[in-house]
Amino acid sequence: MDLTAIAKVKEDGVKALEKASSLKEIQGVYNFYLAKKGAFQPLLAVLKDLSSEEKSQYGKALNEAKTLLSELYKKRLKDFEKTALEEKLAQEKIDLSLPGRDYKSGHRNPFWLIVDEVSDIFLSMGFEIAEGSDYETDHANFELLNIPPDHPSRDMQDTFYFDAVHLLRTQTSAAQAHEMQKRLDKGPIRIISPGKCYRRDDDDMTHSHQFGQIEGLVIGKGISMADLKGTLDVFAKRMFGAKREIRLRSSYFPFTEPSVEVDVSCAKCGGKGCNMCHGSGWIEILGAGEVHPNVLRMGGYDPDLVSGFAFGVGIERVAMLRYGIDDIRRFYQNDVRFISGFEGEERRNGR
Ligand code: PHE
Repeated sequence: MDLTAIAKVKEDGVKALEKASSLKEIQGVYNFYLAKKGAFQPLLAVLKDLSSEEKSQYGKALNEAKTLLSELYKKRLKDFEKTALEEKLAQEKIDLSLPGRDYKSGHRNPFWLIVDEVSDIFLSMGFEIAEGSDYETDHANFELLNIPPDHPSRDMQDTFYFDAVHLLRTQTSAAQAHEMQKRLDKGPIRIISPGKCYRRDDDDMTHSHQFGQIEGLVIGKGISMADLKGTLDVFAKRMFGAKREIRLRSSYFPFTEPSVEVDVSCAKCGGKGCNMCHGSGWIEILGAGEVHPNVLRMGGYDPDLVSGFAFGVGIERVAMLRYGIDDIRRFYQNDVRFISGFEGEERRNGR
């Protein structure tokens, strides 16, 4: 039995562990002595040839040597790890005195600010908000609005079809038909329905193939043009200022009779005529009229018993007038410089 071999491995091992000066080196020492096929392996192989008394003495020495080396290894490893962590922390030190990063929180497009404002005005007059859908049927978008397949007024609007039946709605008036059906026999209707519409317009400063409208619909007993005028007068004054007047000009829509276009007196010149109103003193803001008897009939209502009015306000149009925006395309360009200009508006409206 040769205990000196064990003592030698132990001594060398301790020396090597103490000498190691990096994580990598100490890992090497571990592999050399303590790993499965390390320096203890041949010493262990001797064990089987010893007597049982020798075995216990030799085994004990072997174990002691191994334990000593592994303890030392663990201790040194920890030291290295600690130093490495300290070094890393020192390198990555955070300077709390540096100014923080400024994350700007976004806010709403003026389009939606106008929708909110217009909605508030009509809600205060007892209207409800009805949600329509951009994806519509030809039936609701045209036919129930008194626009049969061969009607010439389709030419201006025939637009993005998915198939022979479905299209992107060309007007929020499509919501009218649905609401009339939904609310049949449930008393008078007083709704607005804001949303997007799509037409095959060429895009220019005042036209976009995508734009917003707010549809209004009132149906009940004895609803007249006077109600329409009174409602829109309140709307114009609340939206554009107490001094604004409205003017109704005779017009044509297949689903209203009589039909009107409604102008509001120019806020910039007060009606005298300027570049904003092209010298006329008036700016057109919406289309409206008394609901056509055919539309009432198709919706299930008896035109001899009830009547109503409808209107459609262009959202960007109102926003452009309200905020002095010169080009409708700005609403859809996602230019932060444009959008940021309305931060104050949002705060002023308390939203
Ligand atoms: N839907 C019409 C348009 O898009 C506007 C309108 C709505 C006119 C309701 C009258 C009544 O031009």
